[in-house]
Amino acid sequence: MNFIFLGPPGAGKGTLAAKVALSYNIPHISTGEIFRAAIKAKTPLGLKVQAIIDSGSLVSDDITVELVKDRLAQSDAQNGFILDGFPRTIPQAEALANIVKVDSVVNFDIADEGVVERLSGRRVCKGCGQNYHVKFMPTKVEGKCDSCGEDLYTRDDDKIEAIQHRLEVYRSQTAPLIDFYKEKELLTDIDARPATEVILSEFENKFPCK
Ligand code: AP5
Repeated sequence: MNFIFLGPPGAGKGTLAAKVALSYNIPHISTGEIFRAAIKAKTPLGLKVQAIIDSGSLVSDDITVELVKDRLAQSDAQNGFILDGFPRTIPQAEALANIVKVDSVVNFDIADEGVVERLSGRRVCKGCGQNYHVKFMPTKVEGKCDSCGEDLYTRDDDKIEAIQHRLEVYRSQTAPLIDFYKEKELLTDIDARPATEVILSEFENKFPCK
């Protein structure tokens, strides 16, 4: 299956995608992760997009579409994938339709208060990139990654001003994709408020793994 995970920032798309990728044996393709890896490695792409990402604005459609096109051409994406955070604009969705057939768009439904609570409490491992949450997914030792022991940090775009800006960007540029995919009869809503295990179980019921 070729999935798109759509929803506001902090809805839990990345957390669920990591689990679904494992159980369905398909790659989890997060454009945000690809950009953050480029920033960490100080590549030309990373240097170009760093300020945009830190502020919570969107990288240009041209750059993002090209990056996704290259990623989807790789061998591991030929038998299904999860696109997490792409498309984020109508032009991106139109470009994607010319690249690959989408089977299902999963829309993560959560109110702004939930987003703010999740993003302001998110902590990320400096070493392996694992995500945690101070309240919902705490580490065993405060400030240290359970997997590799490295320090945790707060993403620049998880600061409160950037969160508010990301929500505005989501409403103006990304939320129109809900109707776009509804009209194509590809959209499935999922309640993103419960614990991840509950959401995973709902997902597996809706999309049984063959
Ligand atoms: P990206 O990395 O895609 O950010 P995002 O969409 O804002 O998504 P997040 O990673 O913030 O949230 P999420 O929904 O994955 O939630 P998560 O699972 O981490 O993009 C970053 C930036 O890159 C963009 O702002 C833009 O600049 C650029 N970019 C990326 N794609 C682009 C595109 N297509 N076009 C242009 N620019 C693009 O969970 C959040 C927190 O909540 C975690 O702490 C987690 O532990 C916790 N949590 C998760 N699920 C639950 C749960 N069920 N219950 C309790 N806590 C939970």
